[in-house]
Amino acid sequence: MRTLIIYVSIHHKNTEKIAKVIGDVLNARLVKPWAVKPEEILDYDLVGFGSGIYWWRHHWALLKLVDDLPKMEGKKAFIFSTAGMNIPWYNHRALRKKLKEKGFQIVGEFSCRGWDTNGWLAKIGGINRGHPNEKDLERARRFAEKLKENE
Ligand SMILES: Cc1cc2nc3c(=O)[nH]c(=O)nc-3n(C[C@H](O)[C@H](O)[C@H](O)COP(=O)(O)O)c2cc1C
Repeated sequence: MRTLIIYVSIHHKNTEKIAKVIGDVLNARLVKPWAVKPEEILDYDLVGFGSGIYWWRHHWALLKLVDDLPKMEGKKAFIFSTAGMNIPWYNHRALRKKLKEKGFQIVGEFSCRGWDTNGWLAKIGGINRGHPNEKDLERARRFAEKLKENE
């Protein structure tokens, strides 16, 4: 299964840790949204989209890329994120909606807490220090194994 993972991780590289773990299991190519051409996505069977959550949604560059894609009837996709407050049903809603509108079939979603020192949180050393931790990474590994089983 040819897998592409498109991700952004700008705050503490929290989401990059998750992208790498999932990428290892799926033997995926990892790329940033600004470094991939929309038509390249057609070459893959499964596409992962992930980033930190910034102002209650995924990174704008990821959302913009999806806007720029042609229709992808039935192509398999998964969503992942790390966030200060891990509320995936809410945090993933913008990306989920856009992917569905483009015709992607969403086969899984993963999220976990990420170290967050945004704004005033920096004054108290942030929240979720140490996350993603080994347990989070193990959950991500299991998530990726499941995606493989559904192949
Ligand atoms: C500008 C900015 C805005 C953020 N907004 C949110 C938010 O709305 N909700 C949330 O739960 N976390 C928020 N966070 C925390 C990040 O989602 C969290 O630290 C995440 O793990 C960052 O991932 P990264 O290191 O891969 O960039 C924000 C962080 C930054 C820097």
